[in-house]
Amino acid sequence: MDKKKLPIAFFDSGVGGISVLREAVKLMPDENYLFFGDSANAPYGTKTREEILHLTLGHCARFYERGIKALVIACNTATSAAINDLRRIYTDIPVIGIEPALKPAALMSRHPTVIVMATPLTVSARKFHDLLGHYTDLADVIPLGCPGLMEYVEQGEITGPRVTSYLTSLLSPWLAEKHVDAIVLGCTHYPFLAPVIQEIAGSDVRIFDGGPGTARELRRRLAQDHLLTDSAVRGSIDFRNSLPEKISLSRKLFSAGLSL
Ligand code: DGL
Repeated sequence: MDKKKLPIAFFDSGVGGISVLREAVKLMPDENYLFFGDSANAPYGTKTREEILHLTLGHCARFYERGIKALVIACNTATSAAINDLRRIYTDIPVIGIEPALKPAALMSRHPTVIVMATPLTVSARKFHDLLGHYTDLADVIPLGCPGLMEYVEQGEITGPRVTSYLTSLLSPWLAEKHVDAIVLGCTHYPFLAPVIQEIAGSDVRIFDGGPGTARELRRRLAQDHLLTDSAVRGSIDFRNSLPEKISLSRKLFSAGLSL
């Protein structure tokens, strides 16, 4: 079996990871992709670390049995809870996680004020606190847990008065109190809400998404392991979800305009 021909697996708690998948497809259109969203068990961000670990390990084991050449955890929450265990288990394929893109935001100017929007699990996890530790001298970082936000994207509601009012109530106290320079989207569902977030925050606020960096890291790891496809024809994308009715939403989100 030629390993280069195997698909690259993407996992998320729901449809959010499609924001990362899109970036990978832009960079590597000739690869084959397998996307699985666990919408039946979403949200993960309000579960315990143990619950998330259990769900993530189960889904990734099924992926691995199918034959894959790399595994991308396109979910900040599942990465926080499970990436170390996954890397211990799957030593023969690249296992790529995602974390909030705090580094480019913290380095964008002299001591910027940066809001990191993420799930409650992500902002409370040790991994995030370790990340924060690297940038506390360089930036004023405001971690903002956003319970309930991913649910809008899961429903396909990425614009409209309800989303705007929820995001306004979440962000405006901080925007009123400080001069905010940047917002980091620390959950893969949030890039779909970026136009609304930008409108609320104003055009001077820069928005950072970890998806493009994760896609570049995936390409770097595949190249390093000589796993990039030899094919020169566009690859396929197989969308799966633990709630089959989310598959059409997955395709829609994949095709939706999404550029920051
Ligand atoms: N998409 C996920 C993330 O990047 C989390 C959403 C959730 O299940 O709470 O964190």
